[in-house]
Amino acid sequence: MVPGNVLMVCLGNICRSPLAHGIFQDLVTDRNIIVDSAGTANYHTGAAPDPRSREIAAQHGIDISQQQARQFVVEDFDQFDYIYVMDYSNQQNVLRLARNDQDHAKVHLLLGNAEVEDPYYGGKEGFAVVFNKIQKACQQILEQWKN
Ligand code: 4NP
Repeated sequence: MVPGNVLMVCLGNICRSPLAHGIFQDLVTDRNIIVDSAGTANYHTGAAPDPRSREIAAQHGIDISQQQARQFVVEDFDQFDYIYVMDYSNQQNVLRLARNDQDHAKVHLLLGNAEVEDPYYGGKEGFAVVFNKIQKACQQILEQWKN
């Protein structure tokens, strides 16, 4: 896998993808790589990440408080090389906007063959579980870039 610009995508862009954005950004050393996140829905456009995501990130030394939610747009297929979605529903919603095979091929589940479950309606513990899963996946992607 060659390095490229990465977009992390979930539903609201306030819980999971801001964590993925912050974690991946923190791990990437090449400043030319663009890392961003977006939601398939526009419910929370302009909002900062959920306090529970901000808290678990801060506990790991990552500040995501400056992020602002935005909706995924079709032009994201032009700017990003890798579009990592958190669950199958995100995958369907993003793929629905793909214009061609090239767009289609950019879309991957972050965990490969499993979902990062939506922690929004649960408690804080869910955010810790999600953080760990996302962190591991981000580390694996960077490992693959080196090979
Ligand atoms: P996210 O979590 O997709 O990880 O940001 C959610 C945030 C908000 C809602 C659902 C999921 N919501 O229904 O408002």
